[in-house]
Amino acid sequence: MSEGTPAAPWWQRGVIYQVYPRSFADSDGDGIGDLAGIESRLDHIASLGVDAIWLSPIFPSPMADFGYDVADYTGIEPMFGDLAAFGRLLAAVHARGLKLLLDFVPNHSSTQHPWFVESRSSRDNPKRDWYIWRDPASDGGPPNNWISDMGGPAWEFDPATGQYYLHTFLKEQADLNWRNPAVAQAMTDVMRFWLDRGVDGFRIDVLWHIVKAEGLPDNPANPDWREGMAEKLRLLQHHSTDQPEAHAHTRAMRQLADDYGETLLVGEIFLPRDRLMRWYGTAAEPGVHLPFNFELIENRWDRDTLAKLIADYDAAIPAHGWPNWVIGSHDAPRIAARIGEAQARVAAMLLLTLRGTPTLYQGDEIGIGTVHIPPDRIRDPQDLRQPGMGLGRDRSRTPMPWDASPNAGFSSAEPWLPLHPDWRTRNVAAQDGDPQSMLTLYRRLLAARRNSPALSLGTLTMRDAPPNVLAFERCHGEQRIFVALNLADEPREISRPGATGAILVATGDRSAFDGRIEANEGFVVELNN
Ligand code: NOJ
Ligand code: MG
Repeated sequence: MSEGTPAAPWWQRGVIYQVYPRSFADSDGDGIGDLAGIESRLDHIASLGVDAIWLSPIFPSPMADFGYDVADYTGIEPMFGDLAAFGRLLAAVHARGLKLLLDFVPNHSSTQHPWFVESRSSRDNPKRDWYIWRDPASDGGPPNNWISDMGGPAWEFDPATGQYYLHTFLKEQADLNWRNPAVAQAMTDVMRFWLDRGVDGFRIDVLWHIVKAEGLPDNPANPDWREGMAEKLRLLQHHSTDQPEAHAHTRAMRQLADDYGETLLVGEIFLPRDRLMRWYGTAAEPGVHLPFNFELIENRWDRDTLAKLIADYDAAIPAHGWPNWVIGSHDAPRIAARIGEAQARVAAMLLLTLRGTPTLYQGDEIGIGTVHIPPDRIRDPQDLRQPGMGLGRDRSRTPMPWDASPNAGFSSAEPWLPLHPDWRTRNVAAQDGDPQSMLTLYRRLLAARRNSPALSLGTLTMRDAPPNVLAFERCHGEQRIFVALNLADEPREISRPGATGAILVATGDRSAFDGRIEANEGFVVELNN
């Protein structure tokens, strides 16, 4: 609950914006976004008023999992550009006073990475133990019962050497063996390579997966699994994730980051709250700065649920830690598809007024909603492997629509994924300057947060409010701010003595607090007592 200090590091005051490079802007007419495309659209990102850009992977990749299958950790995928283009992009980002975070994928590499090519070449290759190879079980089947997060067994048999290798995701993504010190050293060198080039930090992919339990025991069955649920949920990942040894590696990553100044590490970690908190480490031995908090994505969108999770999460943050919040990503369904456009405005206000670093996802700032991907256009391997289960991620990865010109100004060619259906009217140019647009709301919220120590760094206290209204206060020094969000489809009376100050931002037309909150309305008001 503590107040941040005015000398807080940039990432506590700041806001992160996630760019999915394949879908941001295409400069060379191949229908796929690239680094020069991102550079050409930096003005948009800067105009939002965010502080840092996180780029999903841009490294050489066969693209089995669209870049999360890395074939060279220190290069640039030719489809996206080259190291020179990366240098230009980084310089342009810094010239705008923004930071750049890369996506570090330590758990697995592509099976086309030279390390794996060597590893699979023979049982006595020096890189054999860089990955996780095991003999078949006595019946010739996989070494244990682990299930891939993408469905099917987590083991692939390699006839050349008669052993199986572990792949937590696709069979094209082999898990690295972090119990081998040479792997940890090689990955440290990777981080150093990019830090030496001036990047400001990393988002770390599936960090809680990197170490597996010694002996690789079978995972227990999940008693709550039901037909229709994703296959990976059949088992509890007790032995394949969240091992104590992973924290030592995380501490080492943090030490390296700290050697480079205010460098940010954001860990992608899906765990229950108490276990998530351990990834902050301790004050003496800190872990990542921000273990991603996906609670707004994972929980029901109703007042009681949100009020409880916000208070409980905030209270659970260790004294040396700092909270963070997320409502969208390249993996999650679009927020506007999930809760509707009116509530997506409320969600934007919630995300940008909570205590903790927010991460925005490209396209949410213009409210991209429901997208139907025709079967012949589906590209997401997760969807293709477990069809019809609603696991598709393509619908959150459709190209950014810049204007109403052909292909929405994204590319001169047909984009790799279709555009969202209303792109001719829902695009950046159409919303720019429109006082009612989602884009304008995002800009106003970001400006209010930037200009207010209470919103960016202050304490958070939940307040009583009528049914379906979420209300809280943010305070820092003398400044006190009241946030009210109506999750209902009807107006409510709401009292807040002292709420006579200026309305800093509202989702609709409002110039003063009048004891009433409209249906689906949110507002931020300065308190004078
Ligand atoms: C999490 C990434 O966000 C997701 O897109 C990817 O498929 C998996 N990690 C595997 O790298
Ligand atoms: Mg391109």
